Amino acid sequence: MGSQAPASSRRLERMDDLVALCARRGFVFPSSEIYGGINGFWDYGPLGVELKSNLKRAWWQRVVRERADVVGIDSSIITHPRTWEASGHVEFFSDPMVDCRACKKRFRADQIDDAGPCSAREGTSQHEFTEPRNFNLMLQTRIGASEEAASIAYLRPETCQAIFNDFKRVREVARQKIPFGIAQIGKAFRNEINPRNFTFRSREFEQAEMEFFCHPSERERWFEHWLQERLRFHRDLGFDERRLRTRAHAADELAHYCKVAQDVEYRFPFGWQEIEGVHDRGDWDLGRHSEYSGKDLGVTDPETKEHFVPMVIETSIGIDRTCLALLCDAYAEEELENGETRTVMRVHPALAPIQVAVLPLSKKLADPARALEQELRRRFHVFYDEAGNIGRRYRRQDEAGTPFCVTVDFDTASDGKVTVRDRDSMDQERVATAGLVAALAPRLEFPG
Ligand code: GAP
Repeated sequence: MGSQAPASSRRLERMDDLVALCARRGFVFPSSEIYGGINGFWDYGPLGVELKSNLKRAWWQRVVRERADVVGIDSSIITHPRTWEASGHVEFFSDPMVDCRACKKRFRADQIDDAGPCSAREGTSQHEFTEPRNFNLMLQTRIGASEEAASIAYLRPETCQAIFNDFKRVREVARQKIPFGIAQIGKAFRNEINPRNFTFRSREFEQAEMEFFCHPSERERWFEHWLQERLRFHRDLGFDERRLRTRAHAADELAHYCKVAQDVEYRFPFGWQEIEGVHDRGDWDLGRHSEYSGKDLGVTDPETKEHFVPMVIETSIGIDRTCLALLCDAYAEEELENGETRTVMRVHPALAPIQVAVLPLSKKLADPARALEQELRRRFHVFYDEAGNIGRRYRRQDEAGTPFCVTVDFDTASDGKVTVRDRDSMDQERVATAGLVAALAPRLEFPG
């Protein structure tokens, strides 16, 4: 059957368009909306949670399952508070802040140009700033009923520190030898002063981190290996190459634990920004945790008997940021030759929240359509919709990013075929129901 190539296509230019689509369709929206929201916190709806979990699964598959030299863990979010003294976060993990003496608002010292008008001095930007002071970004909580300082604990600002805490035990139980890696996906928390750009800078977010432990003589080789591996992953996510680049950190940008860092950056509508960091952390973490815990976290080479503290090459991807980049990259507004317009999310089919939509042409076809839906559900994430005209149902699936719509029509009963409509080309083809799973499956796989 015929195609309906778009006459013109426009990419995402204004974040507001994406924010509106995400709320309207239930990808992502403000947390606690009924109370007016809470700055820096977001909820993922039915479509968003699927996108996010598909991204996490693709990462886990690539970094853990496909390799013999990386194993996974799932640690507690709250760790012994000494962890954060050892890691350097209590001492160093802070941003210089200024307060406005007039309106009492607080800003990052490097962002006062964006401070906006001073609410105490009607409409003018005449803030009166204090001298910069360091403000620690870790979120605190208390454990137990005691009000003593000793009860203070931190919500982890990065997921990797538990990997260092657990390094010795995991190496033993997994029977791993250097070089090898430990990976984990989980929530991290930072008391960001100015959360901004939708989910880009949030106070609660997810990271997927992998710490690779190697001999000091091999650190450059493994750094390069992991940087290339991570770039391959981002390309496989389907990002437009022109919006993906790496950027080396200058010496004055490096985090306190870091010797060398390369960011993977995506070009958002608000500029080039980091979505993942590849870091050479040297022996900072294992060295400090050995010192603070009194436990030797060094290893002995079984052949040479050399005892050394392994070097750490880290890959650290923000799951929410990468989801945001995927959503930005996927967004397109197209004018069709018939004069209609459509908004389509061209997200990689393997990451799409809904993989197949089953759409009977008429409600009278509900029985065979429901039977097909049940069969497809065993293999794919399926959505069933029988309401409204078929064009409108296609448009809804385009906005959700559904790669394939399967239409059951009045010929299906006699010829055993359905119409499969491709989201991107809008081409339609007749496919035998019996071979449908086999026809769709390879087109919905993430590359290995
Ligand atoms: N363990 C190293 C580490 O945490 P990072 O560069 O501070 O390094 C890694 O963070 C990734 O975590 C970033 O590339 C970003 O994708 C994500 N990330 C960091 N802060 C974030 C925030 N406030 N909101 C959303 N994602 C954030």
